[in-house]
Amino acid sequence: MTVFLNGRYLPLEQAKVSPLDRGFVFGDGIYEVIPSYQGVLFLLDAHLERLRRSLSEIRLPDPMGESGWRGMLEHLLELNPGGDRGIYLQITRGVAPRDHAFPAATEATVFAMVTPIKPQRPETTAQGVGAILLPDERWGRCDIKAITLLANVLARQTAVEQGAIEAILLRDGRLTEGAASNVFVVHGDVVRTPPLDRGILPGITRRFVLDLLEGHSRPVFEEAILESDLRTADEIWLTSSTKEILAVTRLDGQPVGVGRPGPVWRETLDGYQRAKNDALGARVSENGYG
Ligand SMILES: Cc1ncc(COP(=O)(O)O)c(C=O)c1O
Repeated sequence: MTVFLNGRYLPLEQAKVSPLDRGFVFGDGIYEVIPSYQGVLFLLDAHLERLRRSLSEIRLPDPMGESGWRGMLEHLLELNPGGDRGIYLQITRGVAPRDHAFPAATEATVFAMVTPIKPQRPETTAQGVGAILLPDERWGRCDIKAITLLANVLARQTAVEQGAIEAILLRDGRLTEGAASNVFVVHGDVVRTPPLDRGILPGITRRFVLDLLEGHSRPVFEEAILESDLRTADEIWLTSSTKEILAVTRLDGQPVGVGRPGPVWRETLDGYQRAKNDALGARVSENGYG
C-alpha cells in the first residue's frame, strides 16, 4: 500500500512519524474519511469544506490548500487502484517538545491512506443491525472531527461486547449521535434527526440524506429526540460515509418496530443509491472514465 506522508508518496512500511508528534502525545489533530466509488471521490467538496472547518476550529493553518488536497487525494487513489475505497486523512499539529500550549513553529503532519470499503453483507442490509444505548461521555466539541476518539472507542467496544455494531449516545436524555455515525428515527412516515450543534458531527451523509428526503417531500425534522422516542421508533437508521444508511433492527436487544428494516428506510436507501450513482455518473464521464 502506498500512503502519503508530509509531501511524499511511499510504502506504508516506510512511513514513520516521530513519537513527539502532537497527534501521538495529545491527540492534537483532526481527520476525514472520504469514500470513492469507481475512482471518483464522493461528495469531495463537502468533505473538504468540513476539513477546513475542523482545521480552523482547532486553529491549525491549512497546510495544503484546496488544489493541494484535491491533487494529493486523486493521485493517492491512482497509486492504489482497486474497487470502492475510502481515504483516511489525518492532520496533526506536528512534532514539538511536549507542552500543551501550541509550539511557536511546527509543520503540520499530514497523513493519508487508502482503505477498502467493505460493502455491507447483503444479509446485514436485509436484516439490519443491533445497537445499544449508552451515555454520551465525550467532550463538548463533537462538531470537530478530532482524532481524540477515546470515548467513541470505549462506546463502540461496549457495543461489540454486547453483540451490537454501534453505540447510540444520549446526553441529558436526548439523542446525540452514534459512536461513528449520525442517527435518524422514524415514527409513521415522519423522519427526525437531532439538529446540528456542538454535540454532534455534521455528517456529510446526514446532510445528503436530509436533502434527499426534502427533495422527495417526505416530512423530515431536525429536532431534539428523547430516549423514549428511540424506544418507540418504527425505524432507526445509522448514517455514515462508509455505512451509508443502515437500519437498526434491535436496540438493547429489543426489536425496533417489527424487528425488520422498514419501508421508509428501503425507499430512502434506494433514493440514496440512485442519487449517488447520478452524482458519480456525472463525475465519471467528466473524468473520462465512463
Ligand atoms: C461521531 C460520528 N458521527 C457521524 C459520522 C458520520 O459522518 P459522515 O457521514 O460524514 O461519514 C461519523 C463518521 O464516521 C462519526 O465518526
